[in-house]
Amino acid sequence: MSPFKHTFLAALIAAVAPVPAQAQNTSAPYLNTLAQSAGKLWFGTAMDTTTREVSDSAYMTVFNDTQIFGQTTPGNTMKWEFTEPSQGVFTFSEGDETIALAKATGKKVRCHNLVWSSELPAWVTGGTWTNETLLAAMETHIKTEVEYYGDGCWSWDVVNEALDSDGGFTSNVFYETIGAAYVPLAFQYAYEAVQSLGADIKLFYNDYGIEYSGTKHTAALALVQTIQGWNNAYIDGVGFESHYSTSWGASKASQLEGMSDFTELGVQIQVTELDVGCSSVPCSTSDLATQAQIYYDTVSACMDTEECTGMTVWDFDDEYSWIQPADYDGEGDPCLYYSDLSRHPAYTAVAEAIQGIDCSVC
Ligand code: XIL
Repeated sequence: MSPFKHTFLAALIAAVAPVPAQAQNTSAPYLNTLAQSAGKLWFGTAMDTTTREVSDSAYMTVFNDTQIFGQTTPGNTMKWEFTEPSQGVFTFSEGDETIALAKATGKKVRCHNLVWSSELPAWVTGGTWTNETLLAAMETHIKTEVEYYGDGCWSWDVVNEALDSDGGFTSNVFYETIGAAYVPLAFQYAYEAVQSLGADIKLFYNDYGIEYSGTKHTAALALVQTIQGWNNAYIDGVGFESHYSTSWGASKASQLEGMSDFTELGVQIQVTELDVGCSSVPCSTSDLATQAQIYYDTVSACMDTEECTGMTVWDFDDEYSWIQPADYDGEGDPCLYYSDLSRHPAYTAVAEAIQGIDCSVC
């Protein structure tokens, strides 16, 4: 990465004169084209309009290339903290920007998310709530946001990460005040909003660590069944976040089994936040091979599961990933592109997995 990348001057130059794409950063193989030819809805990426990404023209050249990415998820800007910073005061401009960017290049948007423990404004976390008042606030938040963005959203992650690693409910203001019923109730409110719009917006439960068997996987299956059994609630799909690291990833076999447990319940699934951090940076040669293998196994499991309809990476550029060494014990560089926008071997692995051919870089 150029040492000047972050300077004000570089930002200014980038803003007025698009930097030519670097060799191989937009060349074939094309992940989205390959995924769509194989019958999937897309290969997509998260991105964020609040960070420097949108003014990084080299980044945007790759992001905008629909042959590479056919879908996007806003990394932060549709979360509660951003969209309803004060009670009843809604700010939708960042989300509007994501939808506009997506529309400009024919991308669908997985809208993310309506109810989660994190990135909540202080009025929610620090409020004095009763069951009734918090339900009313949750209903208003969900319905206002779903109705505002309408079919600009292909789907909504209605509830995000309701479960802890051990399968119990994550302690948060919703669970503490309303109890476990907050999850199906959130789906009920979202479904009512979708019905009032008369739109086909898919409703997802999204979580990490549910991709393979274990107590959390079992608890997530039960949660899906609770939502399915709830009066006037609906769930279309389950998002497998699939955040891994080179020190630990789920095998293809375990992911296939995990996916089929969910699809047996009649829901579609998607890989929604795939990334694989190297245990230290720069990634060692062996870490790069392991990283490629985990990407390969995850994408392969989705390709081999008919009801796994799409795959999304949690951003594609190490520069903008949420996994930075300072925050994650030295772990980093989890994306398909390095900060200089050249590609990790994992990019090749993903292309091979989509095509169903052996991994040459794992
Ligand atoms: C992350 C964002 O990428 C970060 O920028 C933010 O600081 C924290 O949230 N699971 C999710 C995502 O569902 O919303 C999270 O995104 C990553 C984990």
